[in-house]
Amino acid sequence: MLIDFADIDSRKAYYWMGSTIAPRPVAWVSSLSGDGVANLAPFSFFQMITATPPTLMISPLVQSSDRSFKDTARNIGETGEFVVNLVPFAMVDLMNQTSVTLAPEHSEIEQFQVPMLDSARVKPQRVAGVPVSFECRLAKFMPYPEEQPSCVVIFGEVVAAHIDEAIVAPDGTVDPAKLDIVSRMGADWYGRTRAEANFKLGRPAGWDQRRKD
Ligand SMILES: Cc1cc2nc3c(=O)[nH]c(=O)nc-3n(C[C@H](O)[C@H](O)[C@H](O)COP(=O)(O)O)c2cc1C
Repeated sequence: MLIDFADIDSRKAYYWMGSTIAPRPVAWVSSLSGDGVANLAPFSFFQMITATPPTLMISPLVQSSDRSFKDTARNIGETGEFVVNLVPFAMVDLMNQTSVTLAPEHSEIEQFQVPMLDSARVKPQRVAGVPVSFECRLAKFMPYPEEQPSCVVIFGEVVAAHIDEAIVAPDGTVDPAKLDIVSRMGADWYGRTRAEANFKLGRPAGWDQRRKD
């Protein structure tokens, strides 16, 4: 079946792309407004961009009702700091609850009593009980497309990470079987990094040869 994107609207494009570009790990993003209101919301348009400098990306959509930025994007634009927390399966319901739309002066953290801990290098707190948190400083804030933005692509430079030692093997590497974080698939489907779904695949012979032509 061929889907010509010239023939479909953005709702259908969202469906086909979101259901197949999967699984996408969930960034559970904590931020503070300029007035100091703490905010927490999940985003699956999320990836690592480079390690030089260590940079990740989230992409909050612009609200279709009035074209305004979501609280997370507005807060990061105002204060330049945020924390990306990865979501353990044990906290998936709490994460889901924090996706409700609240007025900017109300905090999901207070409303749903999310346990938080102080961060080391940035002001927004991090979520307690998650395996990994990345403390970030705003590197780039790019409403896209420029003429009529539908999202804000946000690059964050990672300035510190908190890694739960429970996911680290005795040799100091991350044990994928212990990570057990959740990811978004299409519609209401989610994925989970379970040991039985993991497998190892080495690089092919000669993978680091440079082309000689
Ligand atoms: C698992 C999950 C992933 C989500 N991913 C995104 C996303 O990538 N971009 C987005 O704009 N909204 C996403 N949402 C919806 C936002 O979490 C929701 O709009 C939230 O209210 C935004 O909060 P804020 O206004 O406090 O920033 C997601 C929701 C869930 C449950």
